[in-house]
Amino acid sequence: MTAAIQRRLELPEPHNAEKTELHPELNRAHVRFIGVGKTYNGRQGPVAALQGVDLAIQRGEVFGIIGRSGAGKSSLIRTINRLEQPTSGRVLIDQVDIGGFDEDRLVALRRRIGMIFQHFNLMSAKTVWQNVELPLKVAGVPKEQRENKVRELLELVGLQSKHTAYPAQLSGGQKQRVGIARALVHGPDILLCDEATSALDPETTQSILGLLREINKRLGLTIVLITHEMAVIREICDRVVVLEHGHVVEQGPVWQVFGNPQHAVSQTLLAPLQHALPEELQSRLQAQSTVSDAAAVLRLQFTGSAADEPDLAALFAALGGRVKLLQGGVERIQGHALGQLLLAVSGSALSTEQLRERAGQWAQRVEVLGYVV
Ligand SMILES: Nc1ncnc2c1ncn2[C@@H]1O[C@H](COP(=O)(O)OP(=O)(O)OP(=O)(O)O)[C@@H](O)[C@H]1O
Ligand SMILES: [Mg+2]
Repeated sequence: MTAAIQRRLELPEPHNAEKTELHPELNRAHVRFIGVGKTYNGRQGPVAALQGVDLAIQRGEVFGIIGRSGAGKSSLIRTINRLEQPTSGRVLIDQVDIGGFDEDRLVALRRRIGMIFQHFNLMSAKTVWQNVELPLKVAGVPKEQRENKVRELLELVGLQSKHTAYPAQLSGGQKQRVGIARALVHGPDILLCDEATSALDPETTQSILGLLREINKRLGLTIVLITHEMAVIREICDRVVVLEHGHVVEQGPVWQVFGNPQHAVSQTLLAPLQHALPEELQSRLQAQSTVSDAAAVLRLQFTGSAADEPDLAALFAALGGRVKLLQGGVERIQGHALGQLLLAVSGSALSTEQLRERAGQWAQRVEVLGYVV
């Protein structure tokens, strides 16, 4: 850990035993989970919420955590500020094992890690200003410094004009802006977001995501974000991990996991982003071509691993005959073209197998779904 980071974390020089020899890539990790397990004592016996989680979150990235309800997402994120203590394994922040921290070091650590929640957790009897100021008061920050900080943060989140309002007088999006300002009072270098946009409408979600992105870029914060909304991950995350029954089942850059999900759970979670075959077409689809003018229905998938968007003129020419576009679209995630096209090809001189092969020169995955007349 560099001296500068050491000072910023307000931690004593780590004991040698806490320094861990790691691969250089992992050594740069901001947050590192090593074999992290968490078992709760539930009413009906022990619940293994996390099992052998190994992950590295890099400084300055926006890191998404997805998984079905109960997969262990909140448990995992809460080990970063030790709201949960792992039952096995270690969590390192800037290479320092936080497992053995005493109360004083935990307080210092938590000031370096902001957190925002689905239900905002604001004090209803305090104004916007007082909500943001409170953690600074608790930390004994002098009045003038407090005022400067609160003013600066309310400006950052766009709430200067609301500083005398009470939470009940604010919209959901405004409440979350207060939550964000409050999470940033100690100038943290990590921001944890547990379902921070789940209570918001789509438009407000967009504005909060815009604010988080700005904070990530302007302040260089590492953001760790849990959400059930896959579009949120697509919008702002650099990398994503998929949890299932407390295990990491898949992880990678967002474009890769979204473009070509490997695990069944990832495929299920991401299915809502895929265009399903229109019902009307599905009902007309036949497994075999019975008449000569039947059109073969092809699904072309672009998983983002090719350099560019498909050249449709070249694709259609290669397939020959009449090519109708039934459905589809391509979008860009992190500069990669992802999406799918549903095509009906009729009157081509090529066999179905040849059509599939030709289409495979443009798309990373091609399926023949059947035939329609
Ligand atoms: N304090 C607790 N005591 C007992 N069991 C718990 C406790 N907290 C969580 N669990 C259990 O641990 C597992 C993981 O819970 P966790 O809250 O981490 O899941 P999650 O992925 O955040 O789910 P959700 O998407 O519903 O928020 C679940 O089976 C849950 O019931
Ligand atoms: Mg949760």
